[in-house]
Amino acid sequence: MTAEHPLNQDISLADWTYTMSRSVLRQMIGVVSQPGILSFAGGLPAPELFPAADYAAAITHVLATDPKALQYGLPFAPLKQHIVQLMAQRGITCTTEQIFLTTGAQQGLDVLARLLLNPGGQVMFEEVVYTGIQQVVAPFQPHILTISTDLAQGMAVHEVEAHLANGARPAFLYAIPDAHNPLGVSMSQARRQQLVALAVHYNIPLIEDDPYGLLQYDAPIMPPLRALNDSHVLYVGSFSKILAPALRLGWIVAPEALMPKLAVAKEASDLESSALTQRAVSAYMDAGYLPGHVEQLRVAYGHRRDAMLAALCNYFPAEARWTVPKGGMFIWVTLPAEVDAAALLHTAVAQEQVAFIPGHAFAVPGHNVHNCLRLNFSNCSVEIIDEGIKRLANVINSIRKMNLELCDHLMPQYATP
Ligand SMILES: Cc1ncc(COP(=O)(O)O)c(C=O)c1O
Repeated sequence: MTAEHPLNQDISLADWTYTMSRSVLRQMIGVVSQPGILSFAGGLPAPELFPAADYAAAITHVLATDPKALQYGLPFAPLKQHIVQLMAQRGITCTTEQIFLTTGAQQGLDVLARLLLNPGGQVMFEEVVYTGIQQVVAPFQPHILTISTDLAQGMAVHEVEAHLANGARPAFLYAIPDAHNPLGVSMSQARRQQLVALAVHYNIPLIEDDPYGLLQYDAPIMPPLRALNDSHVLYVGSFSKILAPALRLGWIVAPEALMPKLAVAKEASDLESSALTQRAVSAYMDAGYLPGHVEQLRVAYGHRRDAMLAALCNYFPAEARWTVPKGGMFIWVTLPAEVDAAALLHTAVAQEQVAFIPGHAFAVPGHNVHNCLRLNFSNCSVEIIDEGIKRLANVINSIRKMNLELCDHLMPQYATP
């Protein structure tokens, strides 16, 4: 929090902007994307796997055949039909009337928050969570009720229950049940069922953010929350990770009655998502390219995850712990308590040209994860993953050695009677 005027000028801004700080994550991406840095920092897909040629064919076809592609227009109905089929692969039954197209999942979160949350209202999410949801709710200056996360089982649903039993009534609860960003954990089946039952009992909307649901590498794959309930779960999906982030295309699955309100909330921000992109993605799917492409991503990312897990076993200190993600792009590492991840990042970039994101970038203020870090495994080859984790381990080991030497040096003084 800072009382400083954000523009240093006389323009008066909305109250909430005075508590605004630049996203720690964005600041760090600047540091860690310098040339020559071997980076596990960004949440980036593998660029060499983008289906550029097939997408080029689809977009060229659309431009040549559809005069509406460059015009303002209604959401493209055939794309909604494709999304209904994609959702069926996730075990979700829905109709085109329940699909709302968005400019990426981020806009899906934004419009839902604007429909559900009053200024100063309550919201509920995990202590360590995707920064995008924190940014979405910030203008509402909400009271954030936090929930801890079990790194094996996911969200601590008993804490949700305790809050609700004590009278909390959040405008919504936000969850990433599969391949959590940044924690890499997936919620157990039992917790999914308990969470949905609580949402129904207390009449609380659940926003289910699922950008990684189709990128899972191990069986069994658990049903998303929306497959368990269609009245209280508002599902958010995205083409960013299964096709390309630059398309800026996502969707919401919500009760049909909400569609007109969603449309008004979205129009206020961008009128509509790109007609050209909607048609091009639909044409790409008409051609049947998506299933093979997603399978290729699953195989490649599964290998990269395994390579990173193996390298962590091989090189990291025995006391370190990490999540074993079933899907997605991230591993969350907990280092011995004496290692500060922010200091580690500076040394790792300077000495070994390797980068990651310190855990505190994702923590709701007041929650301490100083010794944790998020590693991305989707954006580097298995060879680079091995090399980068080895280098990072070197830095961790040298910091720990220095700490030990310092202790040895100081101990005799403390030991003096
Ligand atoms: C959990 C989560 N939600 C939403 C998003 C935003 O996705 P999109 O690119 O579709 O806006 C991301 C992007 O990394 C994410 O990790």
